[in-house]
Amino acid sequence: MQLFNVYPVNDITITKAEGSYVWDDKGQQYLDLYGGHAVISIGHTHPHYVKRLTEQLGKVGFYSNSVHIPLQQQLAKLLGQVSGKEDYQLFLCNSGAEANENALKLASFHNGNKKIIAFKKSFHGRTSLAVAATDNPAIVAPVNETDNVIFLPWEDPVALEVAFQTNEICAVIIEGIQGVGGINVASPAFLQKIRSLCDAHNAVYIADSVQCGYGRSGKFFSHDHAGVQADIYTMAKGMGNGFPIGGIIISPKFKASYGMLGTTFGGNHLACAAALAVLEVISQENLIANAEAIGNYLMTELKKLPKIKEVRGRGLMIGIELPAELAHVKKELLFKHKIFTGEAKPNVIRLLPSLALTKEHADQFLTAIKQELAN
Ligand SMILES: Cc1ncc(COP(=O)(O)O)c(C=O)c1O
Repeated sequence: MQLFNVYPVNDITITKAEGSYVWDDKGQQYLDLYGGHAVISIGHTHPHYVKRLTEQLGKVGFYSNSVHIPLQQQLAKLLGQVSGKEDYQLFLCNSGAEANENALKLASFHNGNKKIIAFKKSFHGRTSLAVAATDNPAIVAPVNETDNVIFLPWEDPVALEVAFQTNEICAVIIEGIQGVGGINVASPAFLQKIRSLCDAHNAVYIADSVQCGYGRSGKFFSHDHAGVQADIYTMAKGMGNGFPIGGIIISPKFKASYGMLGTTFGGNHLACAAALAVLEVISQENLIANAEAIGNYLMTELKKLPKIKEVRGRGLMIGIELPAELAHVKKELLFKHKIFTGEAKPNVIRLLPSLALTKEHADQFLTAIKQELAN
């Protein structure tokens, strides 16, 4: 059997990983500033994470949501404490798309409306409604097309007001920092505008925090920088440090009923153990403060460099926009300097490392990119 060939891959096979480094099958070490796409939040193979998962696997790995799973309550409690959203409710699933799918569905159950506002360059996942709210026609299958999604320009408060005046809006879904779209930071004023329009029209504010959440921006949710409370926050990626887990946290104004949402795998014992280990390490090692400090350092230093068009981001979610003639820099970083980075089309290098990145790691990257920009 062949694999269904949907991923263009680098010719590298990773066989070992630790902290912010990975090694290939030939023993070559790489600095990982990509984190497998913002997934590695506490560092690869963190000892506490490995221990907690291994111990859990020796007890019970999975049982369904038809029995009590106290690990779920423990996770909800700790997540409430670390995120500061103690009065919210947690629903667990398995991926970012699934989190957004459930959030949109819940919004529509809540107010009975159908129209979703999403933004240009947004990415919300590949399942039916999540992909319909994603601004990339190439990945929307005919069956996913719907006129229930209204795409608005990014940061255009007037277009937002007009959309609210002319439609019965169900929800606004927005990434606090667009990831796939090229690291675009939503301004506090724009997020506050969304909050006030949602309040005025009984619409649901969905903060897609799948990539920009979980401490990456220097606050638990990037929307926290704007001082607003979303109605639903969606999460995945960094939540399990590589173990597949997603979730939504839901404002107390939503009332649950049996069968409203559901999943086979969501909230299983192993996934909860992984997510608990992540939150324990984030708190014990002050990783959110570290993300802010190292992120600020990186952005300050990057802004001093020549040839870069723009440096955008917050915390350890950084976009470096390069002119077209420097499009090759990302490949040089990987194959010459042995540093993994992410990208956004056409010419943005995306840094999405572990929140435990040190100043020494940051300096290793700065030395490499300086050398490339000097050529
Ligand atoms: C902002 C955002 N939302 C949703 C998703 C979808 O997550 P998943 O790939 O886990 O379904 C992604 C994935 O890149 C994302 O960046």
